Amino acid sequence: MPEPILTGRRLSGLAAIVTGAGAEGAEIGIGRAVALVLAGEGARVACIDLDLERAQATADMIRERGGDAVAIAADVSLRPACAEAVSAALDWMGRLDILVNNVGISPPSSLSGLDEGQWSRVMAVNLDSALWMCQRSVPAMVTGGGGSIVNIASIAGMRAHGSLAYGTSKAGMVQLAREIAVAHGRDGIRANAVAPGHVMTSHIARRMPPGMREDRRKVGPLGIEGDAWDVAMAVCFLASPEARFITGVLLPVDGGVTQIGPLPAHALILGD
Ligand SMILES: NC(=O)c1ccc[n+]([C@@H]2O[C@H](COP(=O)([O-])OP(=O)(O)OC[C@H]3O[C@@H](n4cnc5c(N)ncnc54)[C@H](O)[C@@H]3O)[C@@H](O)[C@H]2O)c1
Repeated sequence: MPEPILTGRRLSGLAAIVTGAGAEGAEIGIGRAVALVLAGEGARVACIDLDLERAQATADMIRERGGDAVAIAADVSLRPACAEAVSAALDWMGRLDILVNNVGISPPSSLSGLDEGQWSRVMAVNLDSALWMCQRSVPAMVTGGGGSIVNIASIAGMRAHGSLAYGTSKAGMVQLAREIAVAHGRDGIRANAVAPGHVMTSHIARRMPPGMREDRRKVGPLGIEGDAWDVAMAVCFLASPEARFITGVLLPVDGGVTQIGPLPAHALILGD
């Protein structure tokens, strides 16, 4: 979809952190799209990324659109870096209402080929980062009367996709959201997960073998592919007070591909 038209009001007065908020050049990755949409709905946004230039580019894009953002460099796979990044965000924003755990890496992995280093790296970047960011953010949210956490999981954590470490880490992010939802519901904190699937970003386009894009499109009930804005709009809804009665859920943003059985999927491929 084209960049969404936003109201500037739905998240007015709220403060958000987005991890992995950068992207290469002017590309629109999921983290950048989320940061732009939250800011476009009125939130102040702390854009955290390993690469300061990328985070800065997102913050600049937000300011060009009239929003308010700061860039913070941090490797969120490390617990002390998460603590420092949340503190820096709080110093700038004065409060914290929304945390989007977006960082994720997806190197190929299988049972026979995995070594300890590869497994630990995927778990640290995808799952530990979400855990340590939540650990530091929840007390600040409680102080402010509550908040909303959204973990960016993947359909690869809902069904086996042949990427063992990535899929397992993403399933863990969903469970992390459930646990926080139940443990901190009475603190006014909601925690949910979004599972993107069959979403096209420049980063994925570069890695995808020829022909796969078309095969992926065919197997979905809608027959279209999604983009980073589709994911960002779902995140924005879950983050907003409009979702005040929704917590502990996993929302697939995948054009329905995880809802289809094998026979209808086969028929869709043949009929397209
Ligand atoms: N793109 C898709 O089709 C798709 C599908 C399903 C799920 N996802 C998930 O969505 C999220 C975003 O994906 P994307 O492809 O837009 O992101 P991406 O790979 O483009 O990365 C976004 C940013 O994360 C930063 N980053 C990486 N490691 C970091 C770390 N340790 N600390 C801080 N920042 C770090 C990178 O510098 C980059 O700027 C990921 O969690 C991914 O698993 C994406």
